[in-house]
Amino acid sequence: MHDFHYKKGDLYCESVKVSAIAQKVGTPFYLYSYKTLVDHFTKIKTAFQKINPLICFAMKANDNLAVIKALVNQGAGLDIVSGGELKKALYIGTDPQMIVYASVGKSDEEIKEAILSGILLFNVESLPELDAIHQMAKKLRKKIKVALRINPDVEAATHQFITTGTLKNKFGIDLQTSRKILKSFQKYPHIKFSGLHIHIGSQITSKAPFLNAIKKVIEFIHTLRQDNIELEYLDIGGGLGIIYKDETPQTAQDFANSVLPYLKKTGLKIIMEPGRFIVGNAGIFVTKTLYLKDNGFKKFLIVDGGMNDLIRPTLYGAWHDILPAKETKAKKVKMDIVGPICESGDFFAKDRMFPQLNKGDLLAVMSAGAYGYVMSSNYNVRGRVPEVMVKDNKFEVTKKREVFEDLIRGESLPTFLK
Ligand code: LLP
Repeated sequence: MHDFHYKKGDLYCESVKVSAIAQKVGTPFYLYSYKTLVDHFTKIKTAFQKINPLICFAMKANDNLAVIKALVNQGAGLDIVSGGELKKALYIGTDPQMIVYASVGKSDEEIKEAILSGILLFNVESLPELDAIHQMAKKLRKKIKVALRINPDVEAATHQFITTGTLKNKFGIDLQTSRKILKSFQKYPHIKFSGLHIHIGSQITSKAPFLNAIKKVIEFIHTLRQDNIELEYLDIGGGLGIIYKDETPQTAQDFANSVLPYLKKTGLKIIMEPGRFIVGNAGIFVTKTLYLKDNGFKKFLIVDGGMNDLIRPTLYGAWHDILPAKETKAKKVKMDIVGPICESGDFFAKDRMFPQLNKGDLLAVMSAGAYGYVMSSNYNVRGRVPEVMVKDNKFEVTKKREVFEDLIRGESLPTFLK
């Protein structure tokens, strides 16, 4: 659950009134609850404590420095997917030995940086990538640890854009090729094949897909053992679903109960990469009513946040709960809640029963902590919004609102136009 709740009619994050933050920082903005963040991390840690896994927060879900630092302080590692994420992870002092690196398209430069910084594992997604890593390791005279990301070819029963574990997807290496690679380890003297990695998709609410994938990978580990191939790590990825509306996802404990017996049997060190589960419900997006427009056919509540700030509703048809920051008796009517961007896809909700708010009234788009800010853009020359973190009865801006200078940084007129 989370720490956003009404008290005497006002929406609070922990012990801070959301409207008080809006007054100070303006709107729109993202707001994170430190307590919720830590609670969710602790839930996974506790559920899996018997095997003491390395829990690498998938920082693609939210790479705010305060968010990742809060989790690293709790003992989390980080799952990264780019050189930029690596730099941010190191910047906050993450132990490189607690960093794992996936991505189907690592550049030579990124590979070099990651090798030099001494990360724990590369999760390798193809044969050419393996060759590239081997070449770089050779050049740098290092022997580095690699896990093969296998594609177990299982359906994840989630949105097609966030399914990753079938052969229709670009991710991972099929089992046959993986086995061939592992048997030919002598061809790669600068690589230590240390593990297997799976990640079958995101926002998965049932346990069956996870179990199918884990069983498949364990079977595969057995065949490898017959070939005398011994590994050290099994990285089971992320993907645990959360409640946006009326989903009934498994709890961390349910998940642990179903997979622990299988994981224990492997005897391998387990790595996990949860993103959304930890941060999804720990963040909200706060925006302000500009106008209520009625075109005679439909009502539109126009707010100052847009699809450039939170793209999930339009990109995935994702449903986010939306709450007024002040409880109201105003009549609920059917409306679209939309932003100011020049696109019909610029909406947070469609045909939603929602109170007819007035200009200046605040709304909170809930469950926006994962894949919210990180997927925002400057479309329509809109500055990225601030990110704020609450702890107990205090809040701090952890990333400033972008101003005009930020928006034209690096741009210049060519000489022939000056
Ligand atoms: N590990 C790997 C290798 C991943 O690709 C991902 C997510 C995760 C872990 C974390 O998955 P999570 O626990 O957060 O489900 N933008 C989409 C979600 C994309 C997920 C990409 N990979 C959304 O807003 O729903």
